[in-house]
Amino acid sequence: MAKLTEIGWEEYSGLSLDEKRPYLARWEGDGMPYHTLFAQQFDRGLLERLCALANRIRFINKSKEGALYLKNVLAHKRAMLYFSQPSSRTFLSHLAACQLLGITTGSVRDAATSSEFKGESKEDSIRTFSSYFDMIIMRSPEQGLAEKMAWELSNSDRPIPILNAGSGKDQHPTQALLDIYTLIRSFETKGGVDGRTVVFCGDLLRGRTVRSLSYLLTNFNDVKQVFIAPQELQVPDDVIAILKKKGVRYEIGEDLKAGVKVADAVYMTRIQDEWDTAKGASAKIDTSRFKFGAEELALLKPDGCLLHPLPRRDEIATCCDHDPRAMYWRQMRNGMWIRAALIASTFGFEKTIMDCGY
Ligand code: NCD
Repeated sequence: MAKLTEIGWEEYSGLSLDEKRPYLARWEGDGMPYHTLFAQQFDRGLLERLCALANRIRFINKSKEGALYLKNVLAHKRAMLYFSQPSSRTFLSHLAACQLLGITTGSVRDAATSSEFKGESKEDSIRTFSSYFDMIIMRSPEQGLAEKMAWELSNSDRPIPILNAGSGKDQHPTQALLDIYTLIRSFETKGGVDGRTVVFCGDLLRGRTVRSLSYLLTNFNDVKQVFIAPQELQVPDDVIAILKKKGVRYEIGEDLKAGVKVADAVYMTRIQDEWDTAKGASAKIDTSRFKFGAEELALLKPDGCLLHPLPRRDEIATCCDHDPRAMYWRQMRNGMWIRAALIASTFGFEKTIMDCGY
């Protein structure tokens, strides 16, 4: 069993994501992650187990007795939500997931209200949280911070798991889990996710949800990925390199209507202008052709689906909102269930919940 306590940071950080995976898994050997940092930690088997557990939690929670049972499962655990970047859905759905399982929570949503503002290092802040909590769910504008903290914590005298709720422009693994859960549910009675075409559109360069979801989709058989974006915001090379290595079919283009016609799922994203290096740089890019409206909806297959990690601006017209193929509202709620499944699994309660009498 590879352990983070047996490898120095220098050596660990030089490994590929695939090589890092065993170091981040639970020691109990059930394959579930201990620290959840990136999408490369999930293979198809794990995805299916998490989706099954999310469905199970969803079902159990329907009755009052079931909900009370769930509330007791992790009543002995506390979680810290440490979000130093704006968030609505990811914060609230993790919070709601914790509440479903009876976990007590604390939160910092603005570094200006914590001692970081007084000059405390992030390492010291995280070490402080670990004195009071049993898990840290964190979002940060800094790409590698969650990973560094995971290593630090595993090598401290109070090791606790870290869940990455968005790391810079890099990864957003739990968003990708809820996207996959939504796709699996959407195609459940329609032949499944294998063989589908997924079209990504918008800011594919800086959207971390795109990198994580693109990877998770490679776990399915023969799923084609199509990337539609203005040239300046096209999908980065590292994402394409993975697709090439795994022999995944992909296409890069600029014609959203052509993409929609062949799509089984369209994944729209917001222009991530908070990352602009020069003020107003994104506003100079012509994004008018990368918006989904009534014309695109008319081209979408009858059993296709339209996704968005949200928040949206104007890249999906509100006239699409009540179409049965619009999945973005369901995505939000699915996020709560799949995050509850991940948190329960992180603490080793997958089997307990799967096998309970409810
Ligand atoms: C996304 C994010 O934070 O990366 N939001 C989310 O978590 N649902 C997408 C975005 O901000 O555009």
